[in-house]
Amino acid sequence: MTLTIVGHGYVGLVSACVFADFGNEVYVIGRNKEKINRLKNGDPIIFEPGLKELLEKNLKAGRLHFTLDYQEAIHKSEVVFITVGTPPKDNGEADLSSVFQVAENIAKNLSNHFTVVSCKSTVPVGTNQKVEEIIKKYASKKAQFAVASCPEFLREGSAIFDTLNADRIVIGSSSKKAIEILLKLHQPFSSKKIITDLASAELIKYASNAILATKISFSNLIAFYCEKTGADVEKVLDAVGLDKRIGRIFMNPGVGYGGSCLPKDVLALIDTGKKLNIDTSLLEAVDKVNYQAKKNFLEKILKNHQGKKIAIWGLSFKPNTDDIRFAPSIFIIENLLKHDFKIKVFDPEAMRNIKKIFGEKIEYASNPYEAAKGTDQLIILTEWNEFKQIDLKKLKKILKKPVIFDGRNIYDPLLLKNLGFKYFSVGR
Ligand code: UGA
Repeated sequence: MTLTIVGHGYVGLVSACVFADFGNEVYVIGRNKEKINRLKNGDPIIFEPGLKELLEKNLKAGRLHFTLDYQEAIHKSEVVFITVGTPPKDNGEADLSSVFQVAENIAKNLSNHFTVVSCKSTVPVGTNQKVEEIIKKYASKKAQFAVASCPEFLREGSAIFDTLNADRIVIGSSSKKAIEILLKLHQPFSSKKIITDLASAELIKYASNAILATKISFSNLIAFYCEKTGADVEKVLDAVGLDKRIGRIFMNPGVGYGGSCLPKDVLALIDTGKKLNIDTSLLEAVDKVNYQAKKNFLEKILKNHQGKKIAIWGLSFKPNTDDIRFAPSIFIIENLLKHDFKIKVFDPEAMRNIKKIFGEKIEYASNPYEAAKGTDQLIILTEWNEFKQIDLKKLKKILKKPVIFDGRNIYDPLLLKNLGFKYFSVGR
């Protein structure tokens, strides 16, 4: 099949590489010449495990084409995916301007063979109906098309695995022909397929991210109770999670959820709810607890710190990515700077991005030990694997004071205590 994917972020580029790897001819449209040239040369721009290899392989096979030109790509394609960003506006509403602009550009290049225009961007319920109206307005009278919604559920850091092993593939459309074409395209995936209407597909995506955020905030709320009562949140949630109706997965307390999806999607769902006159207090509480998780952790540091020199391990919003969008590290660093701390940071992938925000206001180390050297305490904000089995005896010698504030509960408190550390974690 020949496809076009508009956008080359995590969703667009990963989908493009995976579909190309199944033998499809894939065009990827961007709007920045420099980025398109980098992609053509096998540079994925973002860091995502396995992506560079998959990109290079499919470029070499001649199945992946990067372009700025809608005309070159659209008229050849049976399916066009929209994968552009829908960032939050100040009021939490999703900014749909890119989606609508892309819809217009696609419309102007549709030909008289049937094309499915399918949205993978996370968009509020009702958006794809507007996309359909825009396409009708700008497409030629002869153009034949149908609109569909195919939300994406991949996680950064395991995006290729998630795409190949999705728990479900959701296809929403009122057009039987569009559904048939999208089923054919997804035939190599063994995932369960859910066929539905446009509105349900759009809402499935928000409902999924909202329940994930709710699980995390609930776990953080229980951690607050544990800190006040002396209970151990890990033991509490282990036991709670053994109930098959609840489960333990995605119930890890910490410094709160970050990233470009959960924070923005909770806010966008609140915004949609308000417009529909629905009581959104449950979702508002999820967002509020997420802020409280970061704030509690900061207060723990401010109350128990051993001096103004501080090391931070982990800056990305989660491991295996260089993405720092809405990362708790930004909130913590901003606030520690306000309190005149001298900060030295290390992250295996995200230092370049954090430097764009903080520049020379903080120091950058080339490994975890160098970051810790000579500082009065260590903070851990991302649970990268390489921190989990670090040489703790060596670390203790390097730090001026053996104090760790662990925002991800990666160490055993008893082990740390026996090694002579003062160890502050979350809910334990
Ligand atoms: C999330 C969803 O998990 C994906 O299914 C979805 O496709 C994606 O958003 C999206 O909408 O595009 P992602 O943001 O990549 O994926 O990362 P997650 O693994 O969901 O982690 C989000 C944040 O929650 C991270 O900051 C992570 O540290 C935090 N988290 C996660 C916790 O604090 N506790 C947990 O138990 C799990």
